[in-house]
Amino acid sequence: MWPRRDKFPPGPFEGLKGWSFQALNESPLEMFSKPARDYGDIAGVRVVNFRNIFINHPDLIEEVLVGHPRRYIKGRVLQANRHVFGEGLLTSEGDFWLRQRRLVQPAFHRARINAYAETMVQYTQRMLENWRGGEERDVHREMMRLTLQIVAKTLFDADVARDAQDVGKSLELLLELGANFRRTLFVPHWVPTPTNLRIKREIAFIESILYRIIAERRASGRDTGDLLSMLLRAQDEDGSRMTDKQLRDETITLFLAGHETTASSLSWTWWLLAQNPVGEARLHAELDQVLGGRTPSLEDFPRLRYTANVITESMRLYPPAWGLARVAIEDHELGGYPVKKGMGVAMAQWVIHRDPRWYDAPEEFRPERWEGDFIKKIPRFAYFPFGGGPRLCIGNNFALMEATLILATVAQKYRLRLVPNHPVVPLASITLRPRHGVRVLLESWRSRPRETLPCVSQPTTQAMSAD
Ligand code: HEM
Repeated sequence: MWPRRDKFPPGPFEGLKGWSFQALNESPLEMFSKPARDYGDIAGVRVVNFRNIFINHPDLIEEVLVGHPRRYIKGRVLQANRHVFGEGLLTSEGDFWLRQRRLVQPAFHRARINAYAETMVQYTQRMLENWRGGEERDVHREMMRLTLQIVAKTLFDADVARDAQDVGKSLELLLELGANFRRTLFVPHWVPTPTNLRIKREIAFIESILYRIIAERRASGRDTGDLLSMLLRAQDEDGSRMTDKQLRDETITLFLAGHETTASSLSWTWWLLAQNPVGEARLHAELDQVLGGRTPSLEDFPRLRYTANVITESMRLYPPAWGLARVAIEDHELGGYPVKKGMGVAMAQWVIHRDPRWYDAPEEFRPERWEGDFIKKIPRFAYFPFGGGPRLCIGNNFALMEATLILATVAQKYRLRLVPNHPVVPLASITLRPRHGVRVLLESWRSRPRETLPCVSQPTTQAMSAD
């Protein structure tokens, strides 16, 4: 399919000329979109002495993530953040990663996730007890606090309500500073710059809370059957247990990977819905019909199809993990081009999810595009918010259930109206989140009990632009 070439692929920023770290830091989304626009499915990008291949076709992405994952390790930015994530699942490699993945996987089996549904709804209701109609709130902050508490409770049986605000801020800062390309690639984390010292302080603060949770559980000897108990029980073949440092690495990774992503997907969803009254009306119609004012539960999850499509479409337009990177560890060929050991390979959900080859009117928010068998008609990696292959997000089903249940629980009580003139702009750090949050006015909404509904005819959906 791909003609063979012997050279590095052509691209827009070859050599130092024209390359701007500032531009990369300030508008990384555009810096990833431009090569796709100008050079198509494969583009070569040279950053000082790092050579990278940007791949912009789903089949090439499948080849990297599923076909030959052993040819690569994680990208340079994630590697440079090892002092944050340690040897946690996101950053570890090889046999160590595989062992840890097998250990952690049972906490994400379907039956376990199902058991988390009640906590997800309960914590959302607890948040709503503090909300009042007519109030103005930053819904991104609310979602961040909520998803952090849900991860802490479901995986570690810890109530972090007291610390949620501070922990959330520290984690957010680590993700933001950790994504600064220039700093992470050229200033080692041990150099005592003001930013590095700040990062050190934030890590120390989070560690103090994680080590407290770990120490309390070790001291109590309690086996609550949650992930932390499973990790504490786990033994190596030689009989040794996981050290506190290993536990710290896995817990900080799950806190970081597991809360901001889901929170951001919900924040973008509220923002998109507020601009799409037809989609919003259809969401409420489904909630009325399926729930009729009842609190959502696990059993409702498969019937909340439109609600789930709203989340799917929101993650298409605003994928919380907006790009993935790898470094080749052996020479090989990709898309007809030679890839040398040490070269980077990058792929961006932000770019692929907006490609008109796979999506009609790609900039428009149209949850109904996911109805029927649309997913089967597009290439497998034309939609990959959770990555793919062996390094597929371990929390994908957790996140989908959580986002759907939170959306359903909140939308039954409130419609969120955007505060005029508040700028909602994406910040592409390690995740894609709204830079200044999403300020909303809460408008009370009363779900109609099912028996009072007329025969619900679905409103015709007229998609509106997302941007
Ligand atoms: C909407 C929400 C989420 C999105 C979009 C998302 C996205 C991703 C993506 C794209 C990867 C693959 C990274 C790569 O290949 O380099 C990943 C990995 C991972 N995610 Fe998620 N994630 C989400 C929620 C969660 C949740 C809720 C958890 C845990 C509670 C979680 C834990 C992890 C972990 C531990 C990994 C590393 C897995 C491994 O390499 O074995 N994520 N996530």
